[in-house]
Amino acid sequence: MANILDFETVALADDKDAIVIIDQTLLPGETKLIELRTAKEIWDAIYLLQVRGAPAIGVTAGFGIYILMKHTKAETFDEFMTEFKEKKDYLDSSRPTAVNLSWALNRMEQLVLKVTDNGRNYNRQELITAMKNESEAIKAEDIEVCRRIGEYGLTLVKEGDGILTHCNAGKLCACKYGTATAPIYLGHEKGYNFRVFCDETRPLLQGARLTAYELHSAGIDTTVICDNMSASVMQKGWVDAVFVGCDRVAANGDVANKIGTSVVATVAARYGVPFYVCAPTSTIDINTLTGADINIEQREPMEVTEMWYEKRMAPEGVKVYNPAFDVTDNSLIAGIVTEYGILRAPYDKAIKELFY
Ligand code: MRU
Repeated sequence: MANILDFETVALADDKDAIVIIDQTLLPGETKLIELRTAKEIWDAIYLLQVRGAPAIGVTAGFGIYILMKHTKAETFDEFMTEFKEKKDYLDSSRPTAVNLSWALNRMEQLVLKVTDNGRNYNRQELITAMKNESEAIKAEDIEVCRRIGEYGLTLVKEGDGILTHCNAGKLCACKYGTATAPIYLGHEKGYNFRVFCDETRPLLQGARLTAYELHSAGIDTTVICDNMSASVMQKGWVDAVFVGCDRVAANGDVANKIGTSVVATVAARYGVPFYVCAPTSTIDINTLTGADINIEQREPMEVTEMWYEKRMAPEGVKVYNPAFDVTDNSLIAGIVTEYGILRAPYDKAIKELFY
């Protein structure tokens, strides 16, 4: 049987007219590759979490806007931009919290303006080729960025350490290595024998279904725990560090990540376990001042009451609160690991220095 690590999370199809993704809603039971060709198919795949995780969503958006514009008939730059903006806004509306989505789409727009000299020099074919190259660069950079995050992250742990992670910030959320799992994969290559605890991550179980699957497939010592067990394993001294990914880092270092992350950070602080956030700079949003300004996605009640259960398990008609993310206060974060190094508090200053 093929190993899940041998499949690409997101790729351009050979004909460059489609995006090929692993349908992550079917994992770990079934590994199925699906092709996304239309704007609706791309939007649905992102919304339904067939492709998910901040970096992978960004790469999908970059490829998406390229393939949607590839066959445009726009004769003028203005016609091109009208069509581009309509498709960009549509893709951008698929999920609100992960900033990589708008980051990738804005990067593609900047490219269009640059290549055409702000519309003064419109050559359709040249522009489409440049868009293809840029979307492929976004993916290639993701791999390099994650590897560098892994190298910096690895300096924070030692051989034999216990590491806890929440949700999936692994290869399945990016293109290789992942963010929070990058130090784990690089350490594994060096024979570090980490023991990894994966929070199951209610309600959509990205930790149990995806992180546990990919780490276990890589031959890493992996243990799934329910979300309410993190205090128990930390109390026992089994966890030396927490690594999580993130969907958006605000300018003051507050971090939005999968719901339950702030619980883990709070518990880690109680037991003196360092809590690290792994964040490519594409996930840092200097225009969002604090965590309170981050738009937190609310999702369907059925994800809590029905999905992943054979039968509905909560009473019909009961109210459900289902935020997909929460915000971890920067005071609980021991370090933010980026591709340029490890940021330490005070984060507003460290982030400013990184960007200006
Ligand atoms: O709802 P999801 O599965 O897209 O949420 C994913 C997460 O919260 C990840 O931790 C985050 O995107 C970081 S992935 C590097």
